[in-house]
This record gives sequence, C-alpha cells and structure tokens, in this order.
Amino acid sequence: MISIDIKGISSFAKDDIPEKLYKESIKQLSTLREGTGNGNDFLGWLNLPDEISAQIESIKECAARLKSQADTTVVIGIGGSYLGAKALIEALSDPFHKEMTHNVVFAGHTLSEDYHASLLSFLGEKKFNIVIISKSGTTTEPAIAFRILRDHLASVVGAGNASKYIVAVTDAQRGALHNLAAHEGYQSFVIPDNVGGRYSVLTPVGLLPLALAGLDIQAFVNGMKNMAGTLRDGNDTTFNMAIVYAAARNFLYGKGYTTEILVGFEPSLMYFAEWWKQLFGESEGKEGKGIYPSSVIFTTDLHSMGQYIQQGERKLFETMISVENPRHNLVVPSAADDSDGIGFIAGKHLNEVNHKAEAGTRLAHIEGGVPVMTIKISKIDEYTLGQLMYFFELSCGISGYVLGINPFDQPGVESYKKNMFALLGKPGYEAEKERLEKLLKE
Ligand code: PA5
Repeated sequence: MISIDIKGISSFAKDDIPEKLYKESIKQLSTLREGTGNGNDFLGWLNLPDEISAQIESIKECAARLKSQADTTVVIGIGGSYLGAKALIEALSDPFHKEMTHNVVFAGHTLSEDYHASLLSFLGEKKFNIVIISKSGTTTEPAIAFRILRDHLASVVGAGNASKYIVAVTDAQRGALHNLAAHEGYQSFVIPDNVGGRYSVLTPVGLLPLALAGLDIQAFVNGMKNMAGTLRDGNDTTFNMAIVYAAARNFLYGKGYTTEILVGFEPSLMYFAEWWKQLFGESEGKEGKGIYPSSVIFTTDLHSMGQYIQQGERKLFETMISVENPRHNLVVPSAADDSDGIGFIAGKHLNEVNHKAEAGTRLAHIEGGVPVMTIKISKIDEYTLGQLMYFFELSCGISGYVLGINPFDQPGVESYKKNMFALLGKPGYEAEKERLEKLLKE
C-alpha cells in the first residue's frame, strides 16, 4: 500500500492547487508515455518493470555463483551506478547482523585514500568478488577503485584466476569497461542505452547487488510493476499520486518554497533519501531552476535541524515518508520508580511513540510555516520500496517537464571533471591547467 496526502499544504494555498497545474501535469504524463518530450532517448526506465523479468534468473544465477566462491563482494560504482543498490540494501538489511548474510560493501563512490585503504585492510587475504558498475566505463572514481581492487584480488587469488571473481555491468557496446570485460572474459550485464544512471535501479545495476545481499528481487520488480500499471497506465488522473505530487511540488516552488526536505522516521531510509536527492537534484537542477532536494531523519535530526525547520527561513517544504508497520515488536518497559518521567509511555509500542512524534512534528511544522506532504507506505520491504521508487521516478519525469527542463540529462556534472583532469595534468588540458592554477594562486 502506498498513498499521498497533501492536506498539509492546504493552509498555504488560498485556493487548491490551480487546475492548470494539474492539467499541465496530466499533459506531461502523456508526453512521457508518448515519448515526445526532451530527452526522449532516455525513457527506457518507464517500461523496465515489464521487461526486466527476462533477466531475473541470470542475475540470480550470477549472484549464487559469486556467493559460492567468496563471502564478500565489493560493488564499485558512483552516482546512479551506486545509490539505488546502496539505498535498498541499507533499507532492507538488519543493521546489526550484516555478517549473517553475504557481505556487500561499496567502493568507487569516493576518492578518499583512507576509505579505500581501510577497505583493503578489511579484505586482507580473503577471497572476494568485484562487481564493477559503470555505464560509460570511463568514470574516474570507479576506474581508480577498480584498479586498486583488481590488483589486490590478483594478489590474493592469482592473476590468472581473478577474472572469474569479477563481473562487469556496463554499456552493451561502448566504453573502456566494456572492452576490458570482453578482453578479460568477465561475466557482463548490460545497462540499456536508453536508461540513464539515476533511473537504472531496475537493471542489473541495482538488481545484482540486491540479489547478492539476499534480497527478494522478484518482489522488488513486482512492486515497480504494480506502480507502472497504476500510475503510468492508469486512466484515473485525479487519484494518480505521481500527478498530484508533481503538481503540488511545482505549485509550492512557484510560491517561493525552493527547498524540499524528504523526511524519514526510520533510520534505514537514510540512503533511500540519498537516492531520491540524486534523482530530483540531477534531474531538475538546471537552467537556473529547480527545487533543492534535501533530507533528514527524524526524530534524530529534530535535535539538530529541527530548529531551522521550525523557525528558519520560510522557503522549505517537507515530504514525509510515513511507514505504517514496523518489522518487529518492542514496547517501552515499565519501571518501579518513574524517575525518568516517562511512565505514561510504558507499555506502548515504540512505533506508536514514533507515530505520535511524526504527527506532532507535522502539526508543529505546518504551524511554523512549512508545508508538509505525506507519502504513506504500509511497511519497508522489497515490494513497497519498488512501488516507492517507481512512483518517485515517474513523478520526477512529470515534474521536470512541468518545470520546463530536460529531466534526463546532467550537463553540469562535467564541469568539476574538466577542472580535476586539468589540475591533475591530463594531456590535452595544458592551457586549462595554467588558467586554473593561476586562479588558485589569486
Ligand atoms: O545519473 C547519472 O547519470 C550519474 O549519476 C551516473 O550514474 C554517474 O556519474 C556514474 O556514471 P557511470 O555509470 O557512467 O560510471
């Protein structure tokens, strides 16, 4: 079950969300479906729920093979080639019993020397697998991590044996990684040409790490499929929550609410928010426009960011993810003396306390001038997170079109890369290096 509640923005809208914004959102859903908008060569994700099932068995077989030969896999990737898998594994695995399942650890999402040195020390002399994920096959961070880890793997299992411990997920035909995989005989999976990184969680980019972590990838696909059927194909536009969400956030943006905070009340959703931030930030932040996506986990962050949200600049709105049912049962114990003053909570489930905190926060923030939308989900499992991810992907496509930008490109990501290459002395960047070094000295 998944639904949206936008009552928490009504006191900020004199009338309801204008009809014309709804109509525009409905129109942009059609633009997506018909493939007539900007970036229409990157709409493959729309139909992945219907198409990916054919690959499930081979992904599961690969995961089983990798698990049979080592108890740890290092998944290398960055951005869209990292965040979906990281989000799902963090949300769905037990935070304290990770050692009971196959160990999936990540690399290549940072240039930190210390991070990678620690990883090598953790791996030690153990056998491990590498899943290297890069659509372009040329991204610097994963390329560096792959070099380091490939050398380490060869030192452990022998250079001649290393290739059977490595799986590549990359472009079907192009790129350095594609060529290397073909040359070295790595097992490979393809990221379709028409699926951009941040929309690729329902390809082997997300599914192989998930299968390695022992999660139910079929249930995840089914959740995505359910939302595609309801939101992409459904004719009931009034209750189409992707249309409602896209219209509501563009309405708020038009009123000067330029920052959206995704709020979770479950710490396991912290990386889900990172995935969501990339999806909306990279899709909408361009041409001088776009809502700035931010995130908090409550009640933790009520003791840090809560003050700003309650009383700081009034340009924020919140989208709260409300999880109805926990996976476990735990009640607050009673105590003989009530010296901590919380005896009135004794016997209540922690989840009830958490929900009251959520309701109290929602009311306090609305009264403090923060519009709040709520996305309700029944529980955190593979199926529901599949629903939630497809809902956000579709909403993002609609919302980006309503904003008037191309939600499927990311031209701005290149600027830091050019500067980094120039400063590192990449051949061909000599003039730029001179210019940047001069700037650094000023
Ligand atoms: O969403 C995107 O396109 C980016 O975040 C990419 O996924 C990221 O830059 C990694 O690219 P690649 O998979 O080509 O290494």
